[in-house]
Amino acid sequence: MVAAGAESGTVPVDERHPQIRTRRVAFDWEETPLHWIPGAPVATHLVNAFQILLTTGEKWFIQCVRDALPYVADERLRAEVKGFVGQEMVHSRSHQGVLDRLLARDGLPTAHLTDAAHAKLAERATAMAELARTDPRRFRRRLRFELGAVSAIEHYTAVVGQWIIENDGLDRAGADPTMLDLFRWHGAEEVEHRSVVFDVYTALGGGYPLRAASWAVATALLSLALVQGTFELLRRDPSITVPVTFRRVRRSYRASVRKGHVPAMATMFLREGLTYLRPGHHPSKVCSTEIALEYLRRSPAARAAAGAA
Ligand SMILES: [Fe+2]
Ligand SMILES: [Fe+2]
Repeated sequence: MVAAGAESGTVPVDERHPQIRTRRVAFDWEETPLHWIPGAPVATHLVNAFQILLTTGEKWFIQCVRDALPYVADERLRAEVKGFVGQEMVHSRSHQGVLDRLLARDGLPTAHLTDAAHAKLAERATAMAELARTDPRRFRRRLRFELGAVSAIEHYTAVVGQWIIENDGLDRAGADPTMLDLFRWHGAEEVEHRSVVFDVYTALGGGYPLRAASWAVATALLSLALVQGTFELLRRDPSITVPVTFRRVRRSYRASVRKGHVPAMATMFLREGLTYLRPGHHPSKVCSTEIALEYLRRSPAARAAAGAA
């Protein structure tokens, strides 16, 4: 499917499977303050909680599509999976850099969280390898469910990715430009590869009831993890001297939503959930590859990576 009028140079943009390539970006966090959205510690740590989840989460996405690859016959989709893996690897590594070189530097180490998550991921890999050998039907059933969950999360990463490219609330707030570029470059690549996991899920025979069930589980767990992670970072932040109460956090969060620092999370999860759950949904029907490519053409990190290559 080629989007009408959507052109990148002379090559038409294919919204279903745009070309996916790895951009080996690098970021320097030396000049970035801990509260990189000035005066908005709740919004900053909400997004930081998301970064913590992404470091392991994106490695889990990679495991899932790699596990699925033997069942994907379509050569084009197989190539897209390889592009997806390359992009998600650089995403995970880039957010890990924020945790290691910015949060840890300013008294907020997160290694205990990421180490525990990585240990679970290693256990998952071992369990799935064992299942593939001993009970291939159960292996495929579990893999379909996990791919459904990843596909639901990929819907959100694409939608939030486009939101952060188009929204200027963070620019107006004076947010750190390197962090903004990290999220906009990442968001643009999420828009680029938004169809891949959905198509792999479909190729493995994933249908609508499982899509809805895996969406519900993924959305509930993701929301819970974001709230827990935000409170944990706020409570452990050595620069916050007032008690972190639910009322204070809610007030600051609502102010940040009004100022466009972050989307209204509950509304976004619900509204986008309804879109994702439409029976005829396909990721190519949401977001714009052209908007993503336009950002990638001006992203400082992507330009530097292209120059280095
Ligand atoms: Fe990603
Ligand atoms: Fe992704």
